[in-house]
Amino acid sequence: MKLIHYLTAVCTAATTAIAPATTHAQSEPPQLGHAPTAAVVKAMTLEEKIRLVVGTGMRFAGKGPIIGEADGRVPGAAGNTMNIDRLGIPATVYADGPAGVRIDPIRHGDSSKTYYATAWPVGTLLASSWDTALVKSVGTAFGSEIKDYGVDFILGPGMNIQRNPLNGRNFEYYSEDPLVSGFMAASIVNGIQSQGVGTSIKHFAANNQESNRNSVNAIISERALREIYLRGFEIAVKHAQPWTVMSSYNKINGTYTSENADLLTAILRDEWAFKGFVMTDWFGGHDRAAQVRAGNDLLMPGGQNQMDAILTALKNGSLDSADLDRNVERILNIIVKTPSFHKYVFSSHPDLKAHAAVARKAAAEGMILLQNNASTLPLQKAGILALFGNASYATIMGGTGSGEVHSGYTISIAQGLQNAGFRIITPLAGQYQQYIQADQAAHPKKTPLTLGKPRMTPEYVPADNAIATAINSADEVIYTLGRNAGEGADRTITGDFNLTDTEQTLIGKLAQACHARGKKIIVVLNIGGPVEIASWKDKVDAILLAWQPGEQAGNVVADILSGAVNPSGKLAVTFPVKYEDEPSAKDFPGTPGDRPTESVYREGVYVGYRYFSTFHVKPAFPFGFGLSYTQFRYSPVQLSTTTFQNHLTAKITVTNTGKVAGREIVQLYLHAPSGSLDKPAEELKGFAKTRLLRPGESQTINFSLDPQALASFHTNASAWIAEAGKYKVMIGASSEAIKATADFTLPKDLTVEKVHKVLAPQTPIDELRP
Ligand code: BGC
Repeated sequence: MKLIHYLTAVCTAATTAIAPATTHAQSEPPQLGHAPTAAVVKAMTLEEKIRLVVGTGMRFAGKGPIIGEADGRVPGAAGNTMNIDRLGIPATVYADGPAGVRIDPIRHGDSSKTYYATAWPVGTLLASSWDTALVKSVGTAFGSEIKDYGVDFILGPGMNIQRNPLNGRNFEYYSEDPLVSGFMAASIVNGIQSQGVGTSIKHFAANNQESNRNSVNAIISERALREIYLRGFEIAVKHAQPWTVMSSYNKINGTYTSENADLLTAILRDEWAFKGFVMTDWFGGHDRAAQVRAGNDLLMPGGQNQMDAILTALKNGSLDSADLDRNVERILNIIVKTPSFHKYVFSSHPDLKAHAAVARKAAAEGMILLQNNASTLPLQKAGILALFGNASYATIMGGTGSGEVHSGYTISIAQGLQNAGFRIITPLAGQYQQYIQADQAAHPKKTPLTLGKPRMTPEYVPADNAIATAINSADEVIYTLGRNAGEGADRTITGDFNLTDTEQTLIGKLAQACHARGKKIIVVLNIGGPVEIASWKDKVDAILLAWQPGEQAGNVVADILSGAVNPSGKLAVTFPVKYEDEPSAKDFPGTPGDRPTESVYREGVYVGYRYFSTFHVKPAFPFGFGLSYTQFRYSPVQLSTTTFQNHLTAKITVTNTGKVAGREIVQLYLHAPSGSLDKPAEELKGFAKTRLLRPGESQTINFSLDPQALASFHTNASAWIAEAGKYKVMIGASSEAIKATADFTLPKDLTVEKVHKVLAPQTPIDELRP
């Protein structure tokens, strides 16, 4: 029997059986926000409860989903929950995503107005700023825009670990390191939620690939889960209390995350004290009753079959109604905070101009200068530039899928440089633009939501004489390499991580032509994740990693190339020499073939720099690396004690010894003694970015280490334990450029935290060991 029919029958029967029906009808039912939530839950019918824990659905047309739904309040939003007017429960609105409010920019029957949103720099760029205050300020502006567009919850930030460079959604995520990921997420959540709207940290957890993401079983040791894949979420929950968490599609060690009470209740709520509610990813998981039971409070986007399944489980006793009530109460406890509950009158008029300025500043802080031979940059004057590479003209602001934003415009690199007073060689620009326009016209975007590997316009190759003419008349030459990826597909090694033959040949040719004429060539990387650089970096003079910088892209590239802004970003992900050097290369994306059912995380905790530094594999550019137009000197490090009791501080002074003002990102790594457990050569335990230091100016930074910073996860004891012995503090300008070290000892083993024995793999994993 379908839910509605059954419920009508049950409710009618119940009303007749439970006297006095008249009193019921006459008294005002408890109102959300006025009566205790528990009383509201008690007053709800079974139908109302089920309708609240299942979203209101999603429209479909043809093959692709039409984003936007339900009461139509915010067309293009990803989902809604049901309103129950008699109890004062409003409908609430959920929209993607991590890099901006993804809603329909044009509305049918409303030609008077557009609804474009700010495209912020992608997560990977924000993390490269290492600046938590800056990321919070992005969150604050972002939050006000979310609210102004009538949205209650933004479906972000994305914060999965960048385990492997081929993950198609890495651009949405922050880092290969959980400390960076956790504090970036906490900062943006704090910023967004300061505006009275909610966030959804996602995808909880271990959603580190797109290949068969909906059902792949990620097989991970308890230690790697605790130290790497859960740690960032733990930091975000403890430091920001996001209103919601989105469970992921995949399984971990045999169980769908959305059906896993150990993950969603024992860890998330009991250990970390999460106070909000958990929602599924869209159509995620399988067993609806198991989801409700596990504490996956809301099923999104919602559908009749989910409601039916919950009802059946309640009827046959496999689901306890107390579990349903608990989930309902958690959702209501958050709904009372929403703008919808407060009947906020939204303007649909965010201050896009002010937000563009915030986006520009943020992007400038996260771009990374990777190479700058013979001080090629900053450019000495606003001269004449020859711009090569499609992405110089069709600059990529962000990735695709639910992480895409309809911003209305992207400032291309060509445009940005012209805005800054540079002149660009127009015949060359004309050729590129004509070629790109023709390609785009031949391959129009079919749906607003691109799923799968996005199609890129094949790289244009100007004729040899056009190259020569352009370089002859230019002061400098720029080549922009573009990459895009997104939800629904992972990247490939050939032609994506590795450059195509066309790109390799073009870089070689341009470099040769430039150097033959005594001119310099600068490569701008407009990418969302690592590419191979080692084979061509010696051919070019400078490399700027611009990432996918959001709508202000070109203006920001110009800010850095011109020297208006001194670059201060550093890598939050390692760039390997070759893909095969990645610790997960052999196991990604799992087996068998293209639709892997299993993905074994054999590298254990040795992810990113933890692997490269412990196993002495030289990367192309190490974690934490980034150049500046100035230089910094580090003082020796001073520890508050050499015997750790409960706390220790490490103090260091950084001085700008160069000629221009700049900011430095200072990193504290710790090497812990291997007692009963192997330990990485170094692990990031603190980071700080100096203020803008003028030449000669210094800043002292105090890092603080608590017992948790010393501890590793001991599986047999199900505990975080700091082992007795000698610890080395390493203060670095990157994970490889250690500037100052100091030792301290921990006299006795310290059990820092005992946790639940949960999430064990079904069979032991033969993990990588040093
Ligand atoms: C994505 C989520 C997104 C949701 C709603 C899913 O396909 O994985 O990140 O928030 O769709 O659009």
